[in-house]
Amino acid sequence: MHLPSLIERKREGGRLSRDELRAIISGFTAGEIPEYQVSALAMAIYFRGMDAEETTALTDAMLHSGSTLQWPTDAPMRVDKHSTGGIGDKTSLILAPLLACDRLWVPMISGRGLGITGGTLDKLESIPGFSTQLTEAEIHRIVIKVGCVMVGQTPNLCPADKKLYALRDVTGTVPSIPLITASIMCKKLAEGLSRLVLDVKYGSGAFMKSREQAEALAKSMVSVGNLLGVRSSVCLNAMDEPTGCAAGNALEVAEAVECLQGRGPSDLEATVLDLCVAVSVSSREELAGWLRDGSAWRKFCEMVEAQSGDSSKLERITQVHRAPVIREFRADCSGLLTRVDAGTVGRAVLELGAGRAKASDPVDFAVGCDQIAKTGTEVAAGDVLLRVHARTLGAAESALDLIATGMVIE
Ligand code: URA
Repeated sequence: MHLPSLIERKREGGRLSRDELRAIISGFTAGEIPEYQVSALAMAIYFRGMDAEETTALTDAMLHSGSTLQWPTDAPMRVDKHSTGGIGDKTSLILAPLLACDRLWVPMISGRGLGITGGTLDKLESIPGFSTQLTEAEIHRIVIKVGCVMVGQTPNLCPADKKLYALRDVTGTVPSIPLITASIMCKKLAEGLSRLVLDVKYGSGAFMKSREQAEALAKSMVSVGNLLGVRSSVCLNAMDEPTGCAAGNALEVAEAVECLQGRGPSDLEATVLDLCVAVSVSSREELAGWLRDGSAWRKFCEMVEAQSGDSSKLERITQVHRAPVIREFRADCSGLLTRVDAGTVGRAVLELGAGRAKASDPVDFAVGCDQIAKTGTEVAAGDVLLRVHARTLGAAESALDLIATGMVIE
């Protein structure tokens, strides 16, 4: 294989074959192909794109760059969802135990927050003792016992993606639909799934700003999933305002607990049920019933305990992590609340310390926003439209100033 010729071919808009992509990914993972050549190839892919067959071959090559979770042939269906990320998106915390109530297995491998979007692992790690770094043997044991597990990536799953993503991150080649598709799908397919639902978000608080971009990514991911043997479907969701009424790690766990106990905000519950219905064998009514009758809540507690977390702290997680300063944002006039901009709330929450500007930053579990009012609400002057939880008075004031730019009352 003469790599410069392959780079040139892609640069000129040509195609790479399945065998060529497999050789590139295995050589890169083994450290035999230098990063500068893979960077150049990633840039050529960024400009020239890949067709569905190439994207599928790239995903398959990345999927087989390490181990995959293996399940017995008579195991229940394995299901999962992937979200492209949003503000206040705590749906995974509710969806995994809810699907486990349906006797499905949910081996959910999640990521950490980066930029304005929060990460499931960061939220879960706000639960005292909760371990997100498990071995593949531990993942199997907990899925078989509980029905769901929520963990970080293991070193053996898709090592090619780890290396390639790090390179894309510093070479301006992240926003490429084939590269995003391969990166996301190889990690999900490594879970050994039967069905997958993709929650692709668009809007000010999402990675994809327009519905057209989100549709293109959704189409690419669904096609790769189906071609690689996993029944895949998509829910396109606007991310113009935060999901639910809380954004920030422990604040979102508190809201997820309410939803698991059948008392969640209606938009959050509806999103969870839409996603569950896409992979479940039960009806929406049955799924909603497991939120109302305590089954999903008990399943979540069981999973938390299996992952060494202290489930007795869940119902008072906001006391375990209590920010020293809590300030209210109040309506300055009466009228209809027409905008609670997700991107603005996301930036405020990031600046309060709940998220990461770069991958190595620590996160503050206590800070964020709660009691976030929903658009379409009639408000009176002086009503509380959200609360800011901050480390310092200065941080709270800056967050309130920023949030004011994203609220519209008409
Ligand atoms: N998330 C991923 O895992 N990979 C990408 O390329 C983009 C988002």
